[in-house]
Amino acid sequence: MKTVTCTAPVNIAVIKYWGKRDTQLILPTNDSLSVTLSQDILHSKTTISAAKEYSGDRLWLNGKEEDITKNKRMHNCFRETRAIRKAVEDKAAAAGQPIELLSTYPVHVCSENNFPTAAGLASSASGLAALVFTLAKLFDLPSDMSELSRIARQGSGSACRSLFGGFVAWEMGKEADGSDSKAVQVAPETHWPELEALVCVVSDAKKGTSSTEGMQNTIQTSPLMAERLKVVPGRMEAMKKAILAKDFESFGELTMRDSNQFHAVCLDTFPPIFYLNDTSRGIMRLIHEYNRSSPDGKIKAAYTYDAGPNAVIYAPKQNMREIIQLIAHYFPGTDSDYYFKDTYGVLGGAALGEN
Ligand code: DP6
Repeated sequence: MKTVTCTAPVNIAVIKYWGKRDTQLILPTNDSLSVTLSQDILHSKTTISAAKEYSGDRLWLNGKEEDITKNKRMHNCFRETRAIRKAVEDKAAAAGQPIELLSTYPVHVCSENNFPTAAGLASSASGLAALVFTLAKLFDLPSDMSELSRIARQGSGSACRSLFGGFVAWEMGKEADGSDSKAVQVAPETHWPELEALVCVVSDAKKGTSSTEGMQNTIQTSPLMAERLKVVPGRMEAMKKAILAKDFESFGELTMRDSNQFHAVCLDTFPPIFYLNDTSRGIMRLIHEYNRSSPDGKIKAAYTYDAGPNAVIYAPKQNMREIIQLIAHYFPGTDSDYYFKDTYGVLGGAALGEN
């Protein structure tokens, strides 16, 4: 028996992934780019043990056992990591070296998020990244992160970006087998230490339409989506340039525009998908007001929203205190019309950890 525990961080996209060209292999219709958040506050922690005596693969999520018999995505991750391990075992056997045949053992997986699961806070990204990274450690696989990201991608698209800290692009690739659809690091977590993220939990309820279902409905019904696919390549280039130059003005505007366009294609989906609520829109207005009040007219903060109402605000460190005060003032608490649960101040960037 062998047991390994690892943690993986959440990533929040600033150029969104929305739409698959292959739903089985999880190949996207556009490139995307995200910032990995610090694991100190938001992470998935996964323990996996492999033992000959186990009767089958099992999963406990946040303390409760889940039925994984029909969970194709998890089985993809098991299959892919076991295949690489099996090749290592075969090679060792051929060379007459002793090696434990871990690829043949069933595994027990225990995973916990220290934040609301499936509330649009990228829990599938950190969860599946933690699964693949922990399997890789358990099986002693070579740790080429882009290679592992291709496996994590088959668990949940956005998970491939959580294999790296800092600023991470998911290159959509061109190949039909997905061999070139992988994550690459644009800049490490040390690159832009002045940039911070604030996670505003507007609601921790489970979202109504899952990303997986929502994005395929968009592909099938939204004429605006074709327009988005023309816009994204230019945005990716501009975003990479802004990050490398630590140009918050461009970074912030691109981030807000891309979030808005993503929610516009959701609204253009038929029937429409509503992820934002009144509090989300209130926060958007507040950030635009705040930016308008800037003495030199420069952007001081930028919001982005995934498939849920929770806001993530990116801003230079020096503005964060003011932003938190503003939000606390205008969205005071749970008994007002604006249900405002919590805020997390999160330092940018962090890589995976092994415990
Ligand atoms: C809005 O990665 O959860 O957060 O690949 O079907 O598992 P699947 O979808 P998922 O979608 C995330 C969508 C998003 C944008 C993003 O993270 O880029």
